[in-house]
Amino acid sequence: MKEITVDSLRLGMIISSDIFNDLGNIILSEGTEINERHLEYFNSHRIEWVYVDDDFKNYEDLNAYKVIASDKYKSINTHYGQVLEEFKRFYFQVQNKDFNFELEILEQELVPLIDHLLNDNDILGSMRLVSFRESYHFTHAVNVAMLGAMLGKWLNLDREIIQMIAMAGLLHDIGKTQVPQDLLFKTTRLTLMEMEKVKAHSKLGYESLKSNKKIPREVLAAVLFHHERSDGSGYPSGLKEDQIPYLARIIGVVDVFDAITSDRIYKNGISSFQAFSVIKDESFSGLDPTISDVFLSNIASHFINNRVELSNGKIGEVVYVNRYALNRPLIKLENGDFVDLSTDYSLEVRDVLT
Ligand SMILES: [Fe+2]
Repeated sequence: MKEITVDSLRLGMIISSDIFNDLGNIILSEGTEINERHLEYFNSHRIEWVYVDDDFKNYEDLNAYKVIASDKYKSINTHYGQVLEEFKRFYFQVQNKDFNFELEILEQELVPLIDHLLNDNDILGSMRLVSFRESYHFTHAVNVAMLGAMLGKWLNLDREIIQMIAMAGLLHDIGKTQVPQDLLFKTTRLTLMEMEKVKAHSKLGYESLKSNKKIPREVLAAVLFHHERSDGSGYPSGLKEDQIPYLARIIGVVDVFDAITSDRIYKNGISSFQAFSVIKDESFSGLDPTISDVFLSNIASHFINNRVELSNGKIGEVVYVNRYALNRPLIKLENGDFVDLSTDYSLEVRDVLT
């Protein structure tokens, strides 16, 4: 066993000691053979050194791939960072009740970020590479913009509409600047009255933005109605099904996905597969089922070949994702056995490892 830098890794090398993330979870276990995907993963987790077996011989040159991976890492972080900075400036301006804002720079900063996503198609891979540690209120806005733009592509929408979705994603929760801030950071259960104050954010966001004539009305409508649900259980107006504007339905789906998969101050993010279950459940009662289906089936296809940890602690690889049970894929365990989660309900995917 010897310790080498990530830069010196070669395809086919075998990891000889478990690798942990900042939280102490194993992200790659001893015995894993290095493949192309792991390199991006080390970058995103800022892992610089790993232990590998001494006797590697059959490896391919990773140099060409390394250039691509590091370019992708730099590209996504640069564009993400520029949108994040400009969004923060805008956020504080609105928080200070200065509604005389310009959104041109924010719109311009979004363009290269959207271009990156539309060309690359690998939304979760890109999001894993983002290495900014910022308040959830800022990163959630940028994440929803990215997820929304990607979903717009999967729904075959025009570039102009995709740009609007991204803008709506950035702005959808801007009304939280006008809500008592202690409620946003409260870690205990909100009272009914407090919950009503937080729920007011969609209307407050709309009120803050509506005087700006340059914001398309589709974007304003998405901000106002992103918490409406098909069955009429949402707010502020209790709209049903196609009474809810299309962009608001799109933002509704990606907002829920990012909210339940992001690490929040009061809970750890749940795995994407568990998020599928939540979205599947909600899709019947509240989220637009057609839109959430397109989103989930595209996201799920990215998990094929990914290593996952099951609820019994066993590690395996996703070999097939059933379109009708996205959260319950077929897994090949390390010992070669298969577990079909679509029929075996005693287990579930606890975590996605790579
Ligand atoms: Fe919201």
